[in-house]
Amino acid sequence: MTRVVLSLGGSILFPTLEENRLAGYLPVLRRLAEKMQVYIVVGGGGEARRYIGVARQAGVDEATCDEIGIRVTRLNALLLVSALGDSAFPAVAESQTEAMAAGVSTGKIVVMGGITPAQTTDAVAAVLAERVRADLLVNVTSIDGIYSADPKKDPDAIRFESMTADDLMQIVSGDSLCAGSNTVMDMVAVKVVQRSGIPMVVVDGREPGNLAAALLEGRLKGTVVIRDGGNPLPLKT
Ligand code: UTP
Repeated sequence: MTRVVLSLGGSILFPTLEENRLAGYLPVLRRLAEKMQVYIVVGGGGEARRYIGVARQAGVDEATCDEIGIRVTRLNALLLVSALGDSAFPAVAESQTEAMAAGVSTGKIVVMGGITPAQTTDAVAAVLAERVRADLLVNVTSIDGIYSADPKKDPDAIRFESMTADDLMQIVSGDSLCAGSNTVMDMVAVKVVQRSGIPMVVVDGREPGNLAAALLEGRLKGTVVIRDGGNPLPLKT
């Protein structure tokens, strides 16, 4: 069976609790789960940044800020699991091993959050993709693809339709690793994608339908990251 790992940014699912996109994503995730084994790693979103901001202002060290971020990602993951109801394994996996076991034993959607400091949920998702031998890693995020620089800061930034993991590494290697930082993808995640050769796509998740369109129909609003310049979409199911 086709296996996909989704890194579902908190900035997509829960930019704030009030502006969440749960209702838009539930039918899309259930639709995907009918065709493939779906693993989801949920990010911390706006609430994680708010908690980290308060902690940092109080002089808390970065690793502890990360721990606070991890708790928020897991709370967001629990919210998603609960909302998915019967379609999901009923607990938030606390390690990649637990996630793998839950997927193999039930075939349901498996959800997890962060696990360890000094990385983001993108890295958790990349390692999970490697462990479950995923056909595709999907970074569902709040931008329409990977740019040569942050397009909010650099008007000359170029958007890529496709690129290699080596190219992506060049772009992210200058990014910061502070708790709650907001970069296209963390370096640990890119290193894992680089070594595993697992195809990855970055999808503009601001519109939930973009995810189904990309995976099921091959209509991608985003960027393909792949070794040989091929295109993994639409997924064979
Ligand atoms: P993320 O950065 O992964 O969530 O985790 P996000 O902000 O929702 O991601 P995007 O921007 O939408 O893609 C929030 C914070 O939690 C900590 C980090 O401080 C991270 O910035 N974290 C998360 C960890 O330290 N380790 C983890 O495994 C996951």
